[in-house]
Amino acid sequence: SPSDQPHRTAFHFQPPKNWMNDPNGPMYYNGVYHFFYQHNPFGPLFNPQMYWAHSVSRDLINWTPLNHAFAPTQPFDINGCWSGSATILPGNKPVILYTGLDSEHHQVQNLAVPKDLSDPYLQEWVGYTGNPVINLPDGIQHDDFRDPTTAWLANDGKWRVIIGSQKDKKGIAFLYRSEDFVNWSMHESPLYEVAGTGIWECPDFFPVCVDSNNGVDTSVMNSRVKHVLKVGLYDYTRDYYLIGSYTPEKESFVPQNELTLDALRYDYGKYYASKSFFDPVKNRRILMGWVNESDSETDCIAKGWSGLQSFPRSIWLDQNQKQLVQWPIEEIKMLHENEVSIQNMNLEGGSIHEIVGITASQADVKISFKLTNLEKAEELDMSGIDPQVFCSEMDASKKGKFGPFGLLALASHDLFEQTAIFFRVFQNNGRYTVLMCSDQSRSSTRNGLDKTTYGAFVDIDPQQDEISLRTLIDHSIVESFGGGGKTCITARVYPTLAIGDDARLFAFNYGTESVLISELSAWSVKKARINIEETIGCT
Ligand code: FRU
Repeated sequence: SPSDQPHRTAFHFQPPKNWMNDPNGPMYYNGVYHFFYQHNPFGPLFNPQMYWAHSVSRDLINWTPLNHAFAPTQPFDINGCWSGSATILPGNKPVILYTGLDSEHHQVQNLAVPKDLSDPYLQEWVGYTGNPVINLPDGIQHDDFRDPTTAWLANDGKWRVIIGSQKDKKGIAFLYRSEDFVNWSMHESPLYEVAGTGIWECPDFFPVCVDSNNGVDTSVMNSRVKHVLKVGLYDYTRDYYLIGSYTPEKESFVPQNELTLDALRYDYGKYYASKSFFDPVKNRRILMGWVNESDSETDCIAKGWSGLQSFPRSIWLDQNQKQLVQWPIEEIKMLHENEVSIQNMNLEGGSIHEIVGITASQADVKISFKLTNLEKAEELDMSGIDPQVFCSEMDASKKGKFGPFGLLALASHDLFEQTAIFFRVFQNNGRYTVLMCSDQSRSSTRNGLDKTTYGAFVDIDPQQDEISLRTLIDHSIVESFGGGGKTCITARVYPTLAIGDDARLFAFNYGTESVLISELSAWSVKKARINIEETIGCT
């Protein structure tokens, strides 16, 4: 019941019970969205003997659980069915490539197909008899070769797939090619590699349009797209991405930014092992990512479950072509109720305003701030400053001029518990910097939680643009989108007072300058049916 499970979510995907990590093989097929995930069916902690759990949906909101698609049973996956991806082959035939931990604990790549294409839910999957289709390459450690991507097809009729690896701490995306999806050969040079970055997990490689927010199929290649290479750096559990140009003839990917620890990230909070897929129904690319717990193993055992997926996000290239933009998929509207809205409300320096009329523990909030008198902003040269460190030192209680202003989510009535998502604005030589923080330091009265504060810059000019924030609040997850989705920060929190109907939501401004709330809309979010045992066909 909700009272003994105050941190289970209402509209974020989670397993019925036990451990979940990476999203696997998301796809749309014949009217149904499929979502698989790394699952330990026997307990709430990670175990390398992974299974592929499987859920289906017709709307990406309500999910029906099915039987496991893969279990570690064959010599080529007996020690674990690890992450992988789906590809829809010509003739509308879905296939999956996933990593198996074989009987010698080697990471190998396996192929599987649906047993019965006429089953609308593709419940049973069969491994190809010749598995593995890709063996561990020479000179690579047995546990450094995994997570095949969705494959793409170039004009020469060959499929390509990349696989994450490392050699002597050099992160590598190995490239394999095949004409028939069964016989694969490694291309002489990797698609990309970067020394010193450690193993690359769950790579993703896909095109984004330069002149539209629409997504395109993974095999689209023309002058109207750029390509994104995303890699998960295991050493940091962070998903980084590079935007660049890809030439299949030369098999070259030339990124326009560098992969360093300051490079672009999908999310500057807790977010990892994400995967995208093309949704042909609404011509969009959808991204989902694993959001791990921030409590302890003992807590996970007590809860009986562990791990969430981020709310599905549409993802596209920003107009400036320098970064990606992410936004919760529009289907969230079907869960909205009790809309409250405010226009043009001045929020004076040092004040808070409670947003009433919605269920604050289960909410979707959009707020836009307009700043005038920007010449009063504090002078500060932010170059060389680590935004996360800055946010930790300048937490929500530290007054500035413009900022901190933003939202206090999952707050107790006395504000003793609160998760603060906020902005600060600085100027330097006539240029403005907008900083976004998610401060978990007061998120729970409990100790023994990871309350790390997160922070990142938002690439907007406050002289031209309003500073907007959208936050999805769902009991133990706070997922925030700054600047219309240019900067995302996801946090896990475990309030003890601000739970259920006792949770509150505030707009706040602890800066000395007033800010204008030009627009605020907030909704309660109804509970979705997610992995509740039910007869299939009800979704
Ligand atoms: C990423 C990861 C993958 C691997 C899977 C195992 O979180 O380590 O590299 O395939 O999880 O569950």
